[in-house]
Amino acid sequence: MAALSTCRSVLLFLILFIFLQALFVASTEFEVGGDDGWAIPKSKNVEDMYNQWASKNRFKVNDTINFKYEKDSLMEVNEDEYKKCKSSQPLFFANNGNTNFTLDRPGLFYFISGVSGHCQRGQKMIIKVIEPQSPPPATSQNSTAHSRSSKTIPMPVSGSSLIFAVVMTFFGSPLALIVQ
Ligand SMILES: *[C@@H]1O[C@H](CO)[C@@H](O)[C@H](O)[C@H]1NC(C)=O
Ligand SMILES: *[C@@H]1O[C@H](CO)[C@@H](O)[C@H](O)[C@H]1NC(C)=O
Ligand SMILES: *[C@@H]1O[C@H](CO)[C@@H](O)[C@H](O)[C@H]1NC(C)=O
Repeated sequence: MAALSTCRSVLLFLILFIFLQALFVASTEFEVGGDDGWAIPKSKNVEDMYNQWASKNRFKVNDTINFKYEKDSLMEVNEDEYKKCKSSQPLFFANNGNTNFTLDRPGLFYFISGVSGHCQRGQKMIIKVIEPQSPPPATSQNSTAHSRSSKTIPMPVSGSSLIFAVVMTFFGSPLALIVQ
């Protein structure tokens, strides 16, 4: 009985820990494409493989994406070039096989392979970076008509106090748990 409840406490603590990390971690590193890295998708059926991967993740400002590739390259391009699958003047270019790309602003990032023909075969990706959670105060007082930020994402304060309430409910005091 005691063992069971200890086990449950540990599990809950673990869940809590993951939640807190998700809320407060400054930036996250993502790895593109798993073991295959950044390459032409192997199956013809998954032409949109990278965009499917991207849509399953939530990218914040200052997160980094790690691209691993061989005999290939990475370009960040504009929307038009993404659609055409080619660029003569990419915003970013790397071909050293291991690139950490920092998502340094909110909005859309377009990536394609710089090797001729690869983008057409599905080696391309759009990353959407969400707006920071707290819009800068003061300056944007005008708002109303022009404010197009902060329509979603309630999170930080309410999220953490909710978790705190959960902790208090389950454990009485989180400190007691940590000391154990
Ligand atoms: C991103 O990193 C830069 C440089 O480290 C920093 O100045 C900026 O405040 C960060 N932005 C966010 C939203 O964390
Ligand atoms: C990218 O980041 C990872 C983890 O932080 C690091 O191990 C790797 O060396 C970095 N790669 C480059 C090319 O900086
Ligand atoms: C705020 O409103 C004033 C007048 O309505 C306008 O001149 C000004 O450019 C606005 N500022 C911002 C930051 O939108």
